[in-house]
Amino acid sequence: MSEEQTLKIEKIQKGTVIDHIPVGRALQVLKILNIYSDIGLTVSIAIHVKSKKLGLKDVIKIEERILDSSELNKIALVAEGATISIVDNFEVIKKFSVKAPEVVIGILRCSNPRCITNTGENVKSSFIITSKDPIILKCHYCEREMETDEIIENIV
Ligand code: CTP
Ligand code: ZN
Repeated sequence: MSEEQTLKIEKIQKGTVIDHIPVGRALQVLKILNIYSDIGLTVSIAIHVKSKKLGLKDVIKIEERILDSSELNKIALVAEGATISIVDNFEVIKKFSVKAPEVVIGILRCSNPRCITNTGENVKSSFIITSKDPIILKCHYCEREMETDEIIENIV
């Protein structure tokens, strides 16, 4: 493909690139990261762009922001396989893909209001992954199963 035919979002000087996001999930990833229009950071978002690996994908570039491990685990729940590139001085200094952990502790509310994790007992939520594609999590306590849409709604 020639340069004119490929989509280019400007390179960033310093920050984080989240690439190979499953198409249509960029806005959920932004929600998880609490990135809103008044955040005061420069954020570029490409939705529904061509990818060699995925067919179509979404991409997010956040300037001046590094993600912590809890944020990376949350991203993995809605965008398993996304590639994270840490950029400094215009160079990619670190690159890895996010993988959903086998056990998810504390970053998600159980969608069952009667679950012991929701009734003021001071019990941390805990889920195991029962399926990866699509992702399904099962509550360790009440066995409620949650799929992507519910997972997104209940990330804390
Ligand atoms: N990137 C950026 N700013 C930079 C350097 C890289 O925005 N200063 C972005 C690239 O656009 C790409 C990602 O960071 O989305 C990874 O960069 P690189 O490894 O150089 O790109 P590719 O090899 O093209 O990526 P891949 O093979 O992962 O698709
Ligand atoms: Zn539960």
